[in-house]
Amino acid sequence: MEESVARQNTGSMPYLVATSQVLGVAALAITGTWLSHYRGGFSWEGAEQFNVHPLCMVLGMVFLCGDALLVYRVFRNETKRATKILHGALHVMALVISLVGIIAVFQFHKNKNIPDMYSMHSWLGIVTFSIYILQWILGFILFFVPGVAFAYKSRFKPLHAFLGLCLLVIAIATCLLGLTEKLLFAIPEQYPHLPAEGVLINVLGLLLVAFGMVIGYILTREEWRRPLLPEERALSIDFRTLTEGGSPTEP
Ligand code: HEM
Repeated sequence: MEESVARQNTGSMPYLVATSQVLGVAALAITGTWLSHYRGGFSWEGAEQFNVHPLCMVLGMVFLCGDALLVYRVFRNETKRATKILHGALHVMALVISLVGIIAVFQFHKNKNIPDMYSMHSWLGIVTFSIYILQWILGFILFFVPGVAFAYKSRFKPLHAFLGLCLLVIAIATCLLGLTEKLLFAIPEQYPHLPAEGVLINVLGLLLVAFGMVIGYILTREEWRRPLLPEERALSIDFRTLTEGGSPTEP
């Protein structure tokens, strides 16, 4: 009974999840439109190779990582295994896409003889990406490799969840710095006069921040956490009984 109440008590969460998706898709659509309409489109060679970078980073490190964070809130009645697989699949896509974006910008700099790693954006970007790789490696070992002790998993879980949200925040901050920097490089004279391209990118920045805020709000509402399914609850009680010597009837 208590459990079924917990399962239904999602309040405005479905509307907020839908809002996050509208904001995320709008941000992606604006990124694609901006790069193809104002910045010459996409190619793996020449000046347009740069354009692969922002598109891949917004898609991989913001949209897909943001959605991966929502999986455990949205699919609350599916088995833990199914939600874990979906969370992992979204992160595989995010990792591959953002790696392509990182390679694109480094290759573009190399081909054009542009110095590497001088800006605040590039420093924050490499820190974000390195934490993401670390999070990936630890998450994979702890949650996907069979035989890793339950005690390690439960100890690491809060840090994993905290880092996931931190990564989304710093990825969005990195995008804002990158977008501003790009406009200052591309249209330094026009930007202060608020041309259409400037307005579009400012709107994109606001959408990315709004996407992060809605996801952050959903994730920090304690009562919207995924409740344990009956079989998971039984397993967790068994584990506590084994490790702490408590009674099997304890909640
Ligand atoms: C989380 C998302 C992002 C990450 C992790 C990231 C990471 C990086 C890194 C590591 C570099 C340095 C490349 C080098 O020094 O050769 C770089 C360069 C650059 N990025 Fe991003 N980026 C992200 C999003 C964006 C976005 C959305 C834009 C928008 C246009 C952008 C624009 C730029 C620009 C203009 C450069 C070249 C100048 C510089 O090195 O600062 N980035 N990015």
